[in-house]
Amino acid sequence: MQQSKIAGIGMYVPTNVVTNKDLTEYIETSDEWIQERTGIKERRYAHRTQETTTTMGIKAAEIAIQRAGITAQDVDFIVFATLCPDYYFPGCGVILQREMKMKEIGALDIRNQCSGFVYALSVADQFIKTGMYKNILVVASEKHSFGLDFSTRGRNVSVIFGDGAGAVVLQPTQNKGILSTHLHSDGNSAEILAMYNPGTHANHWVKDPVAEFDNAPRGEMFMSTAMVDKAQNFPYMDGPAVFKKAIIKMPEAIMEALDKNGLAISDIDMLIPHQANLRIAQFVQQKLQLTDDKVFNNIDKYGNTTAASIPIALCEAWEAGKIKKGNLVCLAAFGSGFTWGSALLEWEL
Ligand code: ACO
Repeated sequence: MQQSKIAGIGMYVPTNVVTNKDLTEYIETSDEWIQERTGIKERRYAHRTQETTTTMGIKAAEIAIQRAGITAQDVDFIVFATLCPDYYFPGCGVILQREMKMKEIGALDIRNQCSGFVYALSVADQFIKTGMYKNILVVASEKHSFGLDFSTRGRNVSVIFGDGAGAVVLQPTQNKGILSTHLHSDGNSAEILAMYNPGTHANHWVKDPVAEFDNAPRGEMFMSTAMVDKAQNFPYMDGPAVFKKAIIKMPEAIMEALDKNGLAISDIDMLIPHQANLRIAQFVQQKLQLTDDKVFNNIDKYGNTTAASIPIALCEAWEAGKIKKGNLVCLAAFGSGFTWGSALLEWEL
């Protein structure tokens, strides 16, 4: 079996900075509330019309590809993780393939929300391991600012999320590279952190069904004004329930990765937790008794960028010299689904 390594990494965040104070113009909230509960000071919002989830992903991908010492034409497979694609279908992977003028390679879209990057990395790692591909582009990008409820009704969710993208190129290595990846899910909590519509569930699962649907024409059951009135076109989150599970499952996934490789917490040089909420990351850090220099957080600047949060943080930590060649890096994610997972890698850049 062939090991895989991260051969290049890039990130992109929009230039438009939105502070907590900016949000108070249309949401009843405060800088103090947001900082105290989430650690977020500001986030970035993409340009309304000139940037999409895919275009941000392309900007991150261009840097990752250049740093890997290849060209877009050398990429032989695309894995694109996002929860806010440009279109309901097709996925962002094919748009990226078209816009980057790549060969007619495979493009796979991953829908695992906050765990999206860890899932995408794991899929790409398997394809390198089997020898099927040699240059896989893994992209994670989110344009949340187009899908949030910017009224007070949605404030427990809207203040948390930001836009941005991260990307890596995976190549075969003779060294250890990605030691292992670990993926999990528990669908019992699918409705706890979700965007219900548009969708084909037809009231089947949701706790607050739209009564009008029962006699509605089929076309209106996919997306209708009644759904919009009930804010079902916006993400729903039971924040405390997410918090409780995240602080159990993230450390579990990290320990699973360490155990699998016969390593201990003290062997970790850098933990990059999904930037869900600073309080979650701090709980995980405390539980594992990791010192501050071994955990990288940047949620204060970008908010929660879901699938993109880990590659953005990984890229920033490396660019800042906080991750060096030979370091043991651990990635850990938890999010909607619930899905969660981890990856352990020996850094080669
Ligand atoms: N500004 C001011 N007040 C607010 C805001 C806001 N933005 N949002 C909610 N509130 C109010 C509520 O209306 C409520 O008021 P009430 O007591 O008068 O009814 C009060 O604050 C508490 O509301 P909760 O929704 O219970 O807020 P909570 O204290 O749980 O904090 C938070 C919300 C920060 C999201 C918290 O639940 C949390 O840390 N959850 C962890 C999950 C998380 O961070 N998810 C991120 C995305 S998912 C992921 O990436 C895995």
